[in-house]
Amino acid sequence: MKYDFDKVIDRRHSPYSYSMKWGTSKLVSEMVEMQSIPDDSIAVYTADMDFRCADPIIKAMHAVADHGIFGYSIQDEAPRYYEAICGWFARRRNWKIKKEEIVYINGTVEAMRQVICAVTNPGDGVIIQKPVYGPFSGAIEYTKRTLVNNSLVEKADGYYEMDFEDLEQKCKDPRNKLMFLCSPHNPVGSSQSRISGFLISARPIAVRCCCPPDNWLGSLCWCS
Ligand SMILES: Cc1ncc(COP(=O)(O)O)c(C=O)c1O
Repeated sequence: MKYDFDKVIDRRHSPYSYSMKWGTSKLVSEMVEMQSIPDDSIAVYTADMDFRCADPIIKAMHAVADHGIFGYSIQDEAPRYYEAICGWFARRRNWKIKKEEIVYINGTVEAMRQVICAVTNPGDGVIIQKPVYGPFSGAIEYTKRTLVNNSLVEKADGYYEMDFEDLEQKCKDPRNKLMFLCSPHNPVGSSQSRISGFLISARPIAVRCCCPPDNWLGSLCWCS
């Protein structure tokens, strides 16, 4: 199937856009420190695409809209929901997931909060590698855990890398119970390939500090 990624769709003025990125909400104005995006500028401050969604998805949404009733819905009534997820991971990541292993959570950041609550107690340390996508800190603060920063190190060539010596020390500290890995890393863009070697060599440490990866941007790196 061919997609036209060059077609410009006016999200700034469309009454159906409801776009956070192009809009003028108070929340966003404060974040980007301007009332609205100037006409001669483009908004690129958040990971939100400006090309049209794939036709099969639009078609499926139309079918639901045409049904006309939007009452309580549940995934178990939509077997294709599970088929789509299991199929995608099997095809793209060679990862066989069972339907029973899937837990629906509305958003990555909410999932992070749930993981924090499930495997740590208030006050426990949660390791992240700053600079990193802001809501990582927010999730830790919101759940009243202690943010432990294993800061990324900027190299002479401008690229960033993980500080593995510091990470080992932080993982050895029994107060630290969890680490979140952002791979590929937002914003520095690196894919943390060395981390798997680290986790294998430091297995006793790593097991205490479990490390769910935020792979939100993974398809940008690994789509074939
Ligand atoms: C690294 C990373 N994780 C997650 C998200 C999105 O999180 P959520 O699914 O909670 O909207 C983003 C959005 O930019 C991101 O950059």
